[in-house]
Order: sequence, then C-alpha cells, then structure tokens
Amino acid sequence: MTSSPAQPASEPAEDHVAGKRRPTLRSDLRASVPDGLIALAVTGAVFALLYARILAGTSSTVSVMPFMADAEKFWVYFLSQAFGWSALLWAWITVVLGLLLSGPRPSWLPLSGQRLERLHRTTSLNTIALIAAHALLFAAELVRADTAGWFSALATAFVETFVPGGYDSGTGKIAIPIGQAALYLAIPLGLLFYVRHRIGPKTWRVLHRFVIAVYVLSVWHTLLYGTNVWYDGWFRTTIWLLQLPIAALLLVRLLRPARRSEKLRGPRTHTGSPTGWVVRLSGRLAIVGVIAALIGVIISGADGGRTAPPADTSSSHVHD
Ligand code: HEM
Repeated sequence: MTSSPAQPASEPAEDHVAGKRRPTLRSDLRASVPDGLIALAVTGAVFALLYARILAGTSSTVSVMPFMADAEKFWVYFLSQAFGWSALLWAWITVVLGLLLSGPRPSWLPLSGQRLERLHRTTSLNTIALIAAHALLFAAELVRADTAGWFSALATAFVETFVPGGYDSGTGKIAIPIGQAALYLAIPLGLLFYVRHRIGPKTWRVLHRFVIAVYVLSVWHTLLYGTNVWYDGWFRTTIWLLQLPIAALLLVRLLRPARRSEKLRGPRTHTGSPTGWVVRLSGRLAIVGVIAALIGVIISGADGGRTAPPADTSSSHVHD
C-alpha cells in the first residue's frame, strides 16, 4: 500500500480551504442523501432476498423460529433484519473510509482527501439512521404482535427495544444490550464532530477513536443474534472474513498514522511517558493478535455458529 500526502483526519480538509465553510450537521445531512438512497436500495434488495427465502422455505430464520414462515404476517420483522444488514454494511464502509483517512492512503484511490472525508461523514450519518430504522422496525413488530392495548404495547416494545435489560429472554438478554450499546455510542461519537470547535479538536479526536467499539459491538451483536448467520456455513464465514481488512487497515493505520505525532517511535526517542509507550505498543500487538485469531477462526471454522438442523424439523431451536 503506497501513501499519498496525508490529511490529518481530525482537521477536516474543508476547514483548510480558504473561503469554504466548516461542514455543519445540516450541510452534511443534505450531502448524505445520495448515499442514503443507495443504502435504501440495498436494504430493499436485502429485504426482497430475505422474503424470497422465507417463501422458498430456505430461510434459517424460519428454522430458528418456525412460526415466522408466514411471510405476509412478519414482513416488518424481515424489513428490520434487512435494515440491520445495510446498517452493518454502512458501518463497515464508514470504518474503512475512516481508517483510510487517518492512516496511509493508497495512491490508486480515485478520491481526494476532501471527498473521502465528506463520504466518511455522510456514510457515518446514514449508519446511525439505518441502525435506528432497524431497531424501530423491531419495536414496531413487537407492537404489532402484542395483544395488549396500544399504550401498553408501545411501552413494552419501547422497553424491550431501547432499555438495556428490558429484553429478558434467551440470547437477546446479551445480544440486545450489545446492539443498544452500539447505537448509544454511535450517536455521540459520530455527532460530536459537529461541536468539535466547542469541545476542542484534541478532545474530539481522542473520543472519536472509540468509534471502533461501535463497529466491534455491531459485529458481535450480529454474530450472536442474527438468525440468518445463526448456523455454520459460508455466509457466517464471510462475515468473519470481512473483519480481516478492517483489522489489517487498523494495524497499518497505527503503524503509519497520517499524523506524524501519532507514530510510535523507539522507547528512547519516545517523548511521552514510558507507560504511554507501553500502552501504545500493547495496542499494536493486540491488533496483531486479533488478526491471528481471525485467521484461526476462519481456517478452523470454529466461528460460534450452531450446527444446522436437519431439513425436516419442527424446530427445537428457540431464538427468544
Ligand atoms: C437498539 C439496538 C438494536 C436492537 C434492539 C436490535 C435488534 C435485533 C434483533 C431482535 C435481531 C434478530 C433478528 C433475527 O431474527 O435475525 C437483530 C439482528 C441483527 N442486527 Fe440488530 N439490533 C440493534 C442494534 C444493531 C446494530 C447497532 C447493528 C449493526 C450496525 C445491528 C445489525 C443487525 C444485523 C445485521 C442482524 C442480523 C439480521 C439477520 O439475521 O437477518 N443491530 N437485531
């Protein structure tokens, strides 16, 4: 990977261009319409695929929850799943763009630093919107399925969807709070950018780094709870595989940061505290460990997937 002149991620390229205004949430929301429309088209395509698989009897969602075979009745749930997938894809794209901004940028990339950064911001806003749609549609399905009165159904759905600990059965006890943590972290860590002049660019930069946790939580939530990746198979393996480029880019970004001041020098030339040096070195070694673990999982196939049930089953697999 060759690098082009690096633009520090923390100081938006637009800030440096004379006569150009600093991007605001409003201007970025307007700019996020095109990739938002693409995200909606992708969601529609995923929904069509999920729906067709339900009708064809090949969906693992139905193996896990046989009552969902009635596609017409549960279409909102399948739409929520589809938004979950586009959210995850947009989160992946956002992280890749962010790492290309803060690490060495390949010279073959046809986008200027400014364009890349704008795209990073708009995909990030769309990721938040897609996650919100995924969760809201899940809540809508809970309301629809509830036989209690409207108010009680709404309150229950709200608690089960948005309050940590509110969903109290099965794998969801862990998986739903993980998803909620991703959503609740994504909002401030994504949006603080627009008030960075108030909190100070350095504070913003330090906080924004934690956004990688949002991504890790999202993947964890999906692998733990997604019924379409519930069982072993190529699709689950692909989700694991897609984490390799992220881990590799993260390592490259840490080894060759765009900001020269973030480069880890030898212990003798390091200007900060020795503890800081050890922490930074440990971070880099941890990523190497993650890459090795990912390769191990992919090669061994020990990826946490359940063994697929036989074709004819009145399933004993419960996804509650
Ligand atoms: C309030 C937060 C969240 C709630 C309540 C929630 C709820 C759920 C539920 C109930 C499922 C199981 C659907 C199934 O049967 O497959 C699920 C799966 C999934 N979720 Fe979330 N989620 C949340 C956050 C997230 C986040 C942050 C992401 C990613 C950016 C995400 C992406 C996914 C994906 C990709 C699936 C797999 C869907 C499938 O298997 O087809 N979710 N989520």
